[in-house]
Amino acid sequence: MTQRFTGNFTQQEPIPDEGIDAALDVLRHGRLHRYNVAEGETAHAALLEQEFAAQMGSKYALAVSSGGYAIATALRAVGVAAGDRVLTNAFTLAPVPGAIASLGATPVFVGVTEALTIDLDHLVGILAVKDAPRVLLLSHMRGHICDMDRLMQICDGAGVKVIEDCAHTMGARWNGTLSGRHGAMAAYSTQTYKHVNSGEGGLLISDDPDLMARAIILSGSYMLYERHLAGPPPEAFEKVKYITPNISGRMDNLRAAILRPQLAKLDVQSAAWNARYRVVEEGLRNTPGLTVIERPEAEDYVMSSFQFLLLDWSEEAVTEVVSQCAECGVELKWFGGAEPAGFTSRYDSWRYADTPELPKTDRILKGILDLRLPLTFSLDDCALIARIIRDVVGRVHQAG
Ligand SMILES: Cc1ncc(COP(=O)(O)O)c(C=O)c1O
Repeated sequence: MTQRFTGNFTQQEPIPDEGIDAALDVLRHGRLHRYNVAEGETAHAALLEQEFAAQMGSKYALAVSSGGYAIATALRAVGVAAGDRVLTNAFTLAPVPGAIASLGATPVFVGVTEALTIDLDHLVGILAVKDAPRVLLLSHMRGHICDMDRLMQICDGAGVKVIEDCAHTMGARWNGTLSGRHGAMAAYSTQTYKHVNSGEGGLLISDDPDLMARAIILSGSYMLYERHLAGPPPEAFEKVKYITPNISGRMDNLRAAILRPQLAKLDVQSAAWNARYRVVEEGLRNTPGLTVIERPEAEDYVMSSFQFLLLDWSEEAVTEVVSQCAECGVELKWFGGAEPAGFTSRYDSWRYADTPELPKTDRILKGILDLRLPLTFSLDDCALIARIIRDVVGRVHQAG
């Protein structure tokens, strides 16, 4: 009997009641702009930043309008300018190279390994060449964290500043250290499909007062930066306030109000996501032709999606798997397709950048399949999804 899944892969959980109540309160008083506060009131945006900094263990935090904006702001804050080259992952999503391009800079793509993390040997090779880029925008794509100890050793040794894109690793850890606490700055997204949901939104953290002072002014603080509870002291702003442009991208109090109770529940949510991930992982293990991504012991992930590899399969066979799974209600995204589709695209479809020859990366991208695991799925749903994928992969593999 053909199994069928009828759940919706893009349906997230509702906003918690405390978030809805806080949002209604903001809507009723009308002070949505973060610097529009009544006498004695502290803006939700400022409180969110204070709470996020405490949660991440960073000195400073800034809430902004999107994850992509947070990344671009970090790049500007560390001094990336038009014409610069910035290292980044070949396996990532379009907003990552897009943030680099938004500054008039150019992405330089670093390959991906079978662990779905940045290829550190390739990175070493690029850095060995004269005039190598001096900034790495490291994307922890789909929640897979590379050996951060080795990465930081390589980058520190080469004088490369690291900005972490933690859009998929909010609350995850490497060797006990929270993701986002290795680099000079780290950016998070609070867009609907991430670990906390305000529709759109982003967060930026750092321990560096000069970088954060620049980021706050860049985000559109005018001369109201002292209202940032998680900002650096006034001296840091004095140094940069005349020379830093305002590129407005603030977060408003409505989104901040929705986010605060979600952040407070991040650990509980993370455990629920990981339980779903593990059910799919167990269900797919030992499927002939399918490679499960083995996770290193040093990594504490927070997975809101699942990836597996169909390495060295033909394009026709992968397409057949995607199509048969879709017929059974399981939506798979394929990172190997020649044409960008939906949210998914490949480094060689970002044609505003130079696209290097990366045969090892191409082999892996051609085999990456990806599915969302929203918390609206039960553990039984996840087991069913894994059974469907296993059956389809088994059938197509046998037929090939
Ligand atoms: C890896 C990665 N980085 C950055 C972003 C940008 O986040 P936002 O959509 O909030 O701009 C995304 C969004 O999907 C992403 O997946």
